[in-house]
Amino acid sequence: MNKIPETMRAAAIDRFGDPEVLTVHTLPVPEIDDNEVLIAVHTAGVGSWDAGMRAGWLPDGEQPHFPLVLGTDGSGHVAKVGSRIRRLKVGEEVYAYSFANPKGGFYAEYVAVVAEKVAHTPKGLDLEHAGAIGTTGLTALQGIDDALHVKKGENVIIHGATGGLGTLAVQFAKLRGARVLGTASGDDGVNLVRTLGADVAVDGKREDVTAAARNFAPDGADAILATVGGDSLERCIDAAKRGGRVAYPNGVEPTPKKRPGIKFVAYDGAPGVSEFEHLNKAVEEANLQVPIAAAFKLQEAAKAHERLAQGHVLGKIVLRIR
Ligand SMILES: NC(=O)c1ccc[n+]([C@@H]2O[C@H](COP(=O)([O-])OP(=O)(O)OC[C@H]3O[C@@H](n4cnc5c(N)ncnc54)[C@H](OP(=O)(O)O)[C@@H]3O)[C@@H](O)[C@H]2O)c1
Repeated sequence: MNKIPETMRAAAIDRFGDPEVLTVHTLPVPEIDDNEVLIAVHTAGVGSWDAGMRAGWLPDGEQPHFPLVLGTDGSGHVAKVGSRIRRLKVGEEVYAYSFANPKGGFYAEYVAVVAEKVAHTPKGLDLEHAGAIGTTGLTALQGIDDALHVKKGENVIIHGATGGLGTLAVQFAKLRGARVLGTASGDDGVNLVRTLGADVAVDGKREDVTAAARNFAPDGADAILATVGGDSLERCIDAAKRGGRVAYPNGVEPTPKKRPGIKFVAYDGAPGVSEFEHLNKAVEEANLQVPIAAAFKLQEAAKAHERLAQGHVLGKIVLRIR
């Protein structure tokens, strides 16, 4: 492993604003505590929530510390481990998810992360693809398994199946033996969702989703994972069976309107040692495909956010740090 320098390049903001506030800074490489790992970042994920933070949204009670390095997930090599860490070794390939990481985010050459939020990369994914799924992989899988408890033979709707979460959720629902209808955005999205294994893919912006879903599951859908809210989601829920379940990660807005006879679950994707073990197993068993819509260099982080703002990102955007 190369010697760790004192300073690093990072894409950070000095104030909240539009994509152009995101610029390359030279910052000190973060120091690690005895329960932390320093990762030499290879790939950082670029999520819609990063754009929210750039524009001024922070978790409740958090005060901004500028310069603020964005990025909640990514992959790389372990560069250094804290004195209490046995599970991870210098040089190993890892990926991680840490929301609002206290010592700065993943849009940087180095990031210091609490070890529980770091895991070895799953077999079958290189660093670029593993770096894209820390947040979305955990959130998609926990939606299917922990919030919805999807079982073999159930009829499941993934609403927003073309997005970062949805592209993975389709595959995890299939892995659990469900029949899957994915609502997609655009003809290219419909094609993508079919190639990911959905039994049925419909354009959720142009087609009659309720009719398609009733055709797919005449007795009603058992479970719905929502990655987008609003009228189109309500039309999906119209096709749920009595006793059906609807789950959505916090951040999906507007949240669905409660209805009698339907169980609603709002949840957050959570990192942890067992959570990553569960994800790695599912990634390997599903032979997970991770669609990457666009990749940018670290110094192009503002461009990556402009691309995000244009919308219609099929899968995930990443930054190639190294
Ligand atoms: N709480 C947590 O732990 C957590 C973690 C991760 C994500 N989240 C939240 O989960 C949500 C999804 O994240 P994401 O990264 O998957 O977002 P995303 O990549 O933007 O995915 C949303 C997808 O839905 C599509 N879509 C929009 N309207 C549609 C419609 N009417 N029918 C069918 N598809 C439609 C979008 O297509 P177009 O872009 O073409 O419109 C896009 O492909 C966000 O709100 C995020 O904040 C929460």
